[in-house]
Amino acid sequence: MTATPADFDARFFRSALGRFATGVTVITTETAPDARPLGLTISSFNSVSLDPPMILWSLTKSASSLRHYLHARRYVVHVLSSTQLQLAKRFAYGPQAQRFDGVALSRAPGGTLMLDEPECAAWFECYNLTQHEAGDHIIFIGQVERCHRNFSQPLVYHAGDFDLTPSTEPLSST
Ligand SMILES: Cc1cc2nc3c(=O)[nH]c(=O)nc-3n(C[C@H](O)[C@H](O)[C@H](O)COP(=O)(O)O)c2cc1C
Repeated sequence: MTATPADFDARFFRSALGRFATGVTVITTETAPDARPLGLTISSFNSVSLDPPMILWSLTKSASSLRHYLHARRYVVHVLSSTQLQLAKRFAYGPQAQRFDGVALSRAPGGTLMLDEPECAAWFECYNLTQHEAGDHIIFIGQVERCHRNFSQPLVYHAGDFDLTPSTEPLSST
């Protein structure tokens, strides 16, 4: 089906966008000045620039934690592995105040609060460089200060659901 914005609704648009498979991340930071941990499940993560290293992600203006991310100095983007489905659900659907219950935490080398989750496929400690208003979302551009990667199978999100089909191919280690 082909449609123009005049006659497609948000559901149709979301369904079309959902044909694009993505990975799944959890992005952590802290409130200021009381240093409460904050975390969100985000699939809009993408690469922007290799040199200097920059990434982007977008956050709905209706997120309760929006103002904290706008003012955060740094955040950590954790790329989840296929074994971390429960973490993805907790940081998307759980109440913000309880998302960190029982979750081990640590600090990235630059001091930013992060999950102590060795199974993450990768993580990026980012300086909160710029934010850009775009419709009902804010696009965040992060300058990557440190990154780490594993060769674990990534968690995949597709067509509005987590794709739990096991891969038959081993991951390349390059
Ligand atoms: C797989 C998945 C990906 C998501 N990606 C995004 C995203 O890219 N941007 C966004 O604003 N919300 C996204 N969400 C919804 C947020 O995780 C959710 O609205 C957020 O946790 C609300 O947090 P807050 O209101 O406590 O700030 C996603 C949810 C799921 C399940």
